[in-house]
Amino acid sequence: MVREVDGYAADIPYLRDFKPMLAPAWLDHVALVAGVEPPARENGFAWCDLGCGQGVTAAILAATHPSGKFYGIDAMPAHIDHARRLAAAAAIPNLQLHAVDFAAATGLDFPQFDYIVAHGVYSWVGARAQRELREFIDRRLKPGGLVYLSYNAMPGWARDLPFRGLLKEFGGTIPGDTHARLSAIAELVRTLAGLASLKASFIVKELLQRPQDYPMAYLVHEFLPADWRPLYVTEVRRDLRTIGLSPVASATLSENFDCMVLDDTACRTLAGITEPNARELIRDYYLDQRFRRDVFTRGSRLLGPDERATRLLSTTLVLAPPAPAIATPPPAASVASDTPAGRAVLAALAAGQAAGPQNLEMLLTLCAAGVIMPAEPGCASVEDLNRILSSRVDGPEEIRWLALPCSTAVEVDPGLLRALRDRQPIDAKRYPGWRDFLAKHRVY
Ligand SMILES: C[S@@+](CC[C@H](N)C(=O)[O-])C[C@H]1O[C@@H](n2cnc3c(N)ncnc32)[C@H](O)[C@@H]1O
Repeated sequence: MVREVDGYAADIPYLRDFKPMLAPAWLDHVALVAGVEPPARENGFAWCDLGCGQGVTAAILAATHPSGKFYGIDAMPAHIDHARRLAAAAAIPNLQLHAVDFAAATGLDFPQFDYIVAHGVYSWVGARAQRELREFIDRRLKPGGLVYLSYNAMPGWARDLPFRGLLKEFGGTIPGDTHARLSAIAELVRTLAGLASLKASFIVKELLQRPQDYPMAYLVHEFLPADWRPLYVTEVRRDLRTIGLSPVASATLSENFDCMVLDDTACRTLAGITEPNARELIRDYYLDQRFRRDVFTRGSRLLGPDERATRLLSTTLVLAPPAPAIATPPPAASVASDTPAGRAVLAALAAGQAAGPQNLEMLLTLCAAGVIMPAEPGCASVEDLNRILSSRVDGPEEIRWLALPCSTAVEVDPGLLRALRDRQPIDAKRYPGWRDFLAKHRVY
């Protein structure tokens, strides 16, 4: 018998991943790019993850932001149990975890939040849970707070609907647990992959070419929730408008710059559409958008151009980790870093200096391209946490991330975790650039 939580198969827990774009510095950067004032954090702040899964993001952010109060909410007890064990092992004092659904969470005694995030939740739950999630935000968001909501989007998912139908409808006829159902479906997908109805599916192609990148835990939580439905941006904006939220920008940073993601024809067509929601919808058609990472606010102050520039220039941006962590750098990344201005900015950051005002556009481009990333100016202690993370390598609860003192984390190969755990030198041939990168961040 498959246990379910709100339509979720709960007999296989989800992945244990960190999501860098949920960090306060990243969300602040998104707000500043859009000319919106981020929450004031001088006197501390509160952050809440709705549907926090296994709690890896919440735990790493709590450990690296001692001045913040962090909360993780998830209806699946196994997820919260994992998050609590991780927080206890790494002695993280500023993280509270609650195994409740959004409706029950709304009645609990929480502070008002500066940041409320929900990654990979909104298009996986039905209308009732979506409403409950909005009610929580409505009740708990501080004026001027930021909300992050990611979701599977249309029209990019259209060609995958027959695949999802196969999973849900054919899967529903198979007895046994989730593992048995998914194994039978995977077998069938291999047989049917050439059919016209599945040929255009991105995910079917991926499953055949890179099955190792799609573990059972991902497939279960990605495709089996009963109410899974990709959403149009206009639907989500309408929903959030009902609680007074307005869109800020995208936490997929490149998508905030038309010139990085659209061609001239698209820009010309979009220039003729003045209604912002309609424009965004048609933009998603040009992008064949599959996944949106939207940031919203309620009651934030707008910044003038000078204040925006000053604040952007004074934020902390650090060099992103070396390849292969950025598996395939987007073309803009190599283009931007290979110009004199790009090289000057990277050299300044590498030397721990600020980029000058003339370099603001380049800074934003490099950041949007993933060459540099938003971080905190301080130096948080990450030793205990990284000891726990590296001690899990090769085990059943492996987490392939390392926390950085600048309050974010980087995805690492298990070999690097082993080197750290065993206090062995990093093999520079196998992991070019990593020894310097981790040493610079004082992690190794
Ligand atoms: C696809 S997972 C994403 C987990 C996490 N945000 C991440 O990105 O790793 C969705 C999560 O939402 C949780 N969830 C679904 N419906 C919920 C509800 N009504 N209340 C609280 N949590 C819920 C599930 O238990 C699951 O952990």
